Amino acid sequence: MNKYSRITGTGSFLPPKRVTNAELAAQLAATGVETSDEWIVERTGIRARHFAEPEVSTSDLGVQAARNALEAAGRKPSDVDLIIVATSTPDMVFPSSATILQNKLGIAGCAAFDVQAVCSGFVYALTVADAMVRTGSAKCALVIGAEVFSRILDFGDRTTCVLFGDGAGAVVLEASDTPGILASDLHADGKHVEILCVPGTVFGGKVHGNPLLRMDGQAVFKLAVGVLEEAARATLAKAGKTEADIDWLIPHQANIRIMQGTAKKLKLPMDKLVVTVDQHGNTSAASIPLALDVAVRSGKVRKGDTLMLEGVGGGFTWGAVLLDF
Ligand code: UT7
Repeated sequence: MNKYSRITGTGSFLPPKRVTNAELAAQLAATGVETSDEWIVERTGIRARHFAEPEVSTSDLGVQAARNALEAAGRKPSDVDLIIVATSTPDMVFPSSATILQNKLGIAGCAAFDVQAVCSGFVYALTVADAMVRTGSAKCALVIGAEVFSRILDFGDRTTCVLFGDGAGAVVLEASDTPGILASDLHADGKHVEILCVPGTVFGGKVHGNPLLRMDGQAVFKLAVGVLEEAARATLAKAGKTEADIDWLIPHQANIRIMQGTAKKLKLPMDKLVVTVDQHGNTSAASIPLALDVAVRSGKVRKGDTLMLEGVGGGFTWGAVLLDF
């Protein structure tokens, strides 16, 4: 048994191809789909996204983020005894992207599996890893969020295709005598499947149903702000803390308006909000560890800071993790 788990290193990786709103709008215009930089910035805060090349997979992005996190933690791949990848865009139907990533790291033997909770995937994966570290199943875990959402976008649907991008983020989570992860709070409500889903599946060697993302943006928006506040408050209560203890709010990077709405409900000043959505759009399960890594490397987030991580997404799923960095 270990008393706590603690993040000892962070890493991230964006594929090199960066597409600005203006560039995307020009590409879409060529196929008769109308949008603009002004609309995207005003409604979402997004200015650019990164798209992986066709031969690049989720595990390729994830392994780069993982290597960066291991380097920051001063650990080698051989130190890792658990790998969890949060993703909705796995390399294959099976095996998991985590096992493929494990092989790319040049290691074998440790437990490796994927967690599928869409944009809440990273807070789900971090909570599972924390539990496994505290019960002694692991000492040095890699928790990764990695996505190639560009593969599941309908570029004929302007209400969704301008929102998402590809990327990966990772943390090394180690056993520790001091906290660490303080509390977490996870939820799901499957009756909302229809408002955000990729309904297609593989059936008898063919794609059965629509294999592209569809979303009722307004329904997601309304649900998101409410549940993010509830999850944050529940997590603070479990840890015996209040909003005043939060140094940084690091929410899922989907839409600046949702993030600002959540910060406002928690009465947090906007300068405590970590925002990177402008640079990479919604990268689903990758967005929280990506934002965390950017905030750490820029010197914003420092050792000892108290962080509230929050995810919300398809399922509907949502949750929060409070931690001392
Ligand atoms: O990771 C999980 C997360 N998903 C989210 O967090 C998404 C949550 N939802 C949202 O972020 C917002 O609902 C959107 C950004 C998706 C949409 O913003 P909105 O303020 O709710 O816009 P809307 O859906 O009410 O659409 C307003 C107008 C419509 O035109 P009319 O009917 O008023 O003429 C849309 O057709 O904007 C139009 N529109 C666009 N115009 C230019 C929708 N998409 C676009 C576009 N470019 N890309």
